[in-house]
Amino acid sequence: MNIPKNRISPFDIDSAEAVSHVREYTNSLRKSGHEPKAYVMTFGCQQNEADSEKLAGLCSLMGYKIIDTAEEADLVLVNTCAVREHAEQRALSHIGELKFIKEKNPDMIIGVGGCMASRQNRAEKLKVSFPHVDFSFSTAQIHLVPSFIAARLAGGRRFFPAANLPLHGDNTPDTYYADFPEDLPVVRGSTSRAWVSIMYGCNNFCTYCIVPYVRGRERSRRPADIEAEVRRLVERGYREITLLGQNVNSYGRGLDENVDFPALLERLAKIDGEFRIRFTTSHPKDVSPDLIRVMAENEKIARQFHLPIQSGSDRILHAMNRKYTAQSYFEKIDALRAAMPDITLTTDIIVGFPGETEADFEDTLTALRRVRYDMIFSFIYSPREGTPAAKMIDSLTREEKTERFARLLEVQNAITLEKNKAEIGWIERVLTDDAPGEDGVMHGRNEGNKIVRLTGSAEPGQFVWARITDAEPYLLHGEIVPPPR
Ligand code: 5AD
Ligand code: SF4
Repeated sequence: MNIPKNRISPFDIDSAEAVSHVREYTNSLRKSGHEPKAYVMTFGCQQNEADSEKLAGLCSLMGYKIIDTAEEADLVLVNTCAVREHAEQRALSHIGELKFIKEKNPDMIIGVGGCMASRQNRAEKLKVSFPHVDFSFSTAQIHLVPSFIAARLAGGRRFFPAANLPLHGDNTPDTYYADFPEDLPVVRGSTSRAWVSIMYGCNNFCTYCIVPYVRGRERSRRPADIEAEVRRLVERGYREITLLGQNVNSYGRGLDENVDFPALLERLAKIDGEFRIRFTTSHPKDVSPDLIRVMAENEKIARQFHLPIQSGSDRILHAMNRKYTAQSYFEKIDALRAAMPDITLTTDIIVGFPGETEADFEDTLTALRRVRYDMIFSFIYSPREGTPAAKMIDSLTREEKTERFARLLEVQNAITLEKNKAEIGWIERVLTDDAPGEDGVMHGRNEGNKIVRLTGSAEPGQFVWARITDAEPYLLHGEIVPPPR
């Protein structure tokens, strides 16, 4: 590689130059009869999956073939999550296993990115305890990964840039959270469904959550850029677009144009073509009457809403810094249902937040019975070092938390089944998966994003109509019927 030795600091090699250096390298491998391959391993949320598609796009630009195991790979990028302890442990154990694979292939380059790697002390740990890892990168440095790889291939030292950063959070300079360049290539995992990030970061600082510290302050993409991306996807045959952001409904703040989330949705729903729009995640405080109106008026926007409540107790909600009460949350749900009676509702719940009493927990059960969600995502509270909640007194035992968690699931499972059974007989529009399931049967997703197992013949990645014939807790059964007129 023709990089002068005095210039192999990754920050001295700009991205475009780095890509061409790595291409030279992958070309030379190919000429010697070895096909260069890259594997991107992803943990965590949909935002991470979208980031991984950008990483895969960069790998393919650098001349690597994308594969889905580490064994054969010349380059492994691990995209980590930090939202709960368990997610970090899983990523660390996978990163640990890469050591044995690298022993067989010492030229393998390993980079670790994502939310965990964006934390100063975790990057430090990767550097010290995982000597087989070549570099780490933060969520804001995805576009710099080619520079990191080029520098390392040129003989540069192992590199853990997050470790050089000041404390993440309010003290971190804005420049650190620079926007992603708009022109990053993307290798998408699906040919019918696409993620589109509309904003990055979060300003809410819920007291349990690490995200604002690792993904930084809210930055919104320009509406024209988002619209252009969605148009291109729809032209290429994508049928479902999921708009992503930590807090999508505060979209637009800080842009020099006058645009908010409902306005963006309205603009995207005007694009011609057969497709539907979903979005996640929303914060209850930012659900406005205007958003509800735009959803109700536009058929292209799926009648599905994921609205994390986290707890049904006002005392706990206050301690979480969620900025709403159970009552004001219920009012938003009632308004959504009044405008769209058949809307599918899901939520996130944290069990065992510090100081949660039996009475607080019962308020959460009451909320489940009051709202009757179609499905919930529930988590046992996991202290995240550096967040305010991690310093609160947590007097519940592990047993008490798991016991509450089990009771929560029991209440919800019954509701989920009832809600699913209520759909029996409905005729719904289902988007089929990209391939049949392991059982050879085609599955798909209905308007509410529930999985439907289909009988009758169906092409992959297309809309079909199905009559729901049966329901299980996490699955609907449907038979394909002619489209209604
Ligand atoms: N412990 C447990 N669950 C958490 N979540 C976020 N932070 C924590 C934590 N420290 C949950 C919230 C959030 C979802 C993505 O993860 O419910 O909505
Ligand atoms: Fe975390 Fe709260 Fe921001 Fe969601 S809204 S990412 S839970 S701080």
